[in-house]
Amino acid sequence: MRRVNVAIAGFGGVGRATANLLLSRRERYAQVYHADVRLVAVCGSRAGLRDPEGLQADQLTTLQEGLSGPDFIAASGADILIEAGPTDFRTGGPGLAYIHSALASGRDTIVISKGALVHSGKKLCALAQKSGAILKLSGAASAALPTVDLVEHSLKGCNVLEVEGILNATTNYLLDAMMTRGVGFDEALREAQQGGFAESDPRNDTEGWDTACKLLILANFGLGAELEMDDLIVDGIQSVTAERIQTWRSEGLVPKLVGSLVHSDGTFRASVGVKTYPLDDAFANVRGKDKAIRITSDAMGETLAIGSGKEPLATAAAALKDLEYILSARLAPAR
Ligand code: HSE
Repeated sequence: MRRVNVAIAGFGGVGRATANLLLSRRERYAQVYHADVRLVAVCGSRAGLRDPEGLQADQLTTLQEGLSGPDFIAASGADILIEAGPTDFRTGGPGLAYIHSALASGRDTIVISKGALVHSGKKLCALAQKSGAILKLSGAASAALPTVDLVEHSLKGCNVLEVEGILNATTNYLLDAMMTRGVGFDEALREAQQGGFAESDPRNDTEGWDTACKLLILANFGLGAELEMDDLIVDGIQSVTAERIQTWRSEGLVPKLVGSLVHSDGTFRASVGVKTYPLDDAFANVRGKDKAIRITSDAMGETLAIGSGKEPLATAAAALKDLEYILSARLAPAR
């Protein structure tokens, strides 16, 4: 049995859910990968916990002040970092320093927050390549909805020509509530906040930035594009009025906030904005906080995935899907 030490930086709802799910799956990791997976450290912005023998679920309720930061994680003996801090794509957010430090020292890294990947993606990839660390990011690229996995595995070898994605749960929920229940924008947003899937600053959702981050991550990490946020045309749903909703309804059209990517002659064009679909289009039937992606490739035509899941469990599970990828890449399967 090979020992694998994991640390989690960022200990809000998603970080905690990831810790608990990981601890509940230790038996699975032992059986499938012959790996003794231990959670050796967790930390938030100011406090943390460390135990070289592995933390237990009942220890995770009380963190100790002062135990935090990339050096704390480095000293924990972790082989793998899971980064689950808050997203800030304008600065890279607190995750950037953790991810940078882990990749520079060759530690395999699973990223959940989007900020560092959008802000410094190219640099982080170069660091990983240099040190030989594996960088995985399913949790940052729409989590329960497979996106990067689809292009990397299911469509391997195909030339992706076009991507359309309903990549943000909040805006899909809002538009659906306004269209089908006649709920106003502010009331629908309150519901999304109560549901726990809207960002703490919901303008990141409603103005299209969260969709733009996910689209950019898919393009750069999944398809080899080199887009910067300034290359994207980004519009949101903030100016959707009750009158427009009424017009769409009477025309039999369903509005969705969509991230679009067009790939031709090695060039990627990306944008985010409201698109409308006829009632018989699969996108028109993506309801509530579900997300969806439609990928058109040269050889496999149109591929469609629709996904959802209860948060924060779904995002935790996406990150632990990445953990299993790393376990299988690094360890021989159990016999
Ligand atoms: N606020 C996001 C959404 C979840 O509504 O999809 C985190 O990416």
